[in-house]
Amino acid sequence: MLSLLLFQWRLEQASNFAPVVDRLFDFILWFSIISFLIIVFGMVLFTFKYWRKKIPENRTAYITGHTKLELGVAFFLLVVVMVIFYWGWVDYKAMKNPPHDAFEVNVIGRQWLWQFQYADGKMLTNELIVPKDKAVSLIMTSEDVLHSLYIPDFRIKQDVLPKSYTNLWFVANRAGEFPIFCAEYCGTAHSAMLGKVKVLEQDDFERWQMTGKLPVGKRTMDHGQGTMDQQPDVTVGEKISLADKGRGLFASKGCTACHSVTGAAGVGPAVNKIFGKEVELTDGKKTKVDENYIRQSVNEPQARIVKGYQPIMPTFKGQISEEEMNALIAYIKSLK
Ligand code: CUA
Repeated sequence: MLSLLLFQWRLEQASNFAPVVDRLFDFILWFSIISFLIIVFGMVLFTFKYWRKKIPENRTAYITGHTKLELGVAFFLLVVVMVIFYWGWVDYKAMKNPPHDAFEVNVIGRQWLWQFQYADGKMLTNELIVPKDKAVSLIMTSEDVLHSLYIPDFRIKQDVLPKSYTNLWFVANRAGEFPIFCAEYCGTAHSAMLGKVKVLEQDDFERWQMTGKLPVGKRTMDHGQGTMDQQPDVTVGEKISLADKGRGLFASKGCTACHSVTGAAGVGPAVNKIFGKEVELTDGKKTKVDENYIRQSVNEPQARIVKGYQPIMPTFKGQISEEEMNALIAYIKSLK
């Protein structure tokens, strides 16, 4: 009966992380409930058992403490807290490391909407379309202030920061629609910064990728949050993939003058086969070439110079939009 009540009270578990997060949540919840009952029961029991009697001889003993008992309780609670910490840490680590074959989507938060940019050049506003049962990795940044992408039914949330990339990943395991919230106060229309994830069966998703068409008239599964027949507001743009757009930018912004894409020597380091690798910097430190490193190298080229090169690259700060930056990074990633 109680479990039925809890089941209804809980949000839907629509991703691989939902049961993981709920398990720890349940542990903390039940530990709290049981501790509460023990304390209240003990309090009531002692109130009656040691009721102050009228007869003076029956005075209770003057007790100042019980070192062993107090240390025992403190140690037990420390163990419990460490268990919770370790458990949370293990789950958190899994959430921080997307699998390498994940389907990547770039996310741009801005006052006050979400934009989802796909590798094939599609751009959706406030609607993220993903395949069911496949790892999806979101590479997120903000064009203005702090935002936070929050999908309660997936139990995932991550701050979205200006000037750098943060990551979220999940495997959606239920087809349907699930709300996206902004969970960081970001100005007047923060509360209206809403979106939704549409999880499609894999064949429906492939069809959508090819044709841009969603399955028509299909009711969403377990929760009547509307039908699938609304076609999303897709900006297909120039109908070229992100990496191709990046290749064009790489040439038009003049990057090719110094950076080879074939591994040939140049004024600056070649950019092929570098993504995901470690490079040595002029100060001897090593750094991993990831989204954040490429982004910083474009906007603040002097910050982390690769060993053997001169700090002569001009900054491109303010000259490259977030969409263009995502395209450039996609291009460099594609140069494997
Ligand atoms: Cu964006 Cu709050």
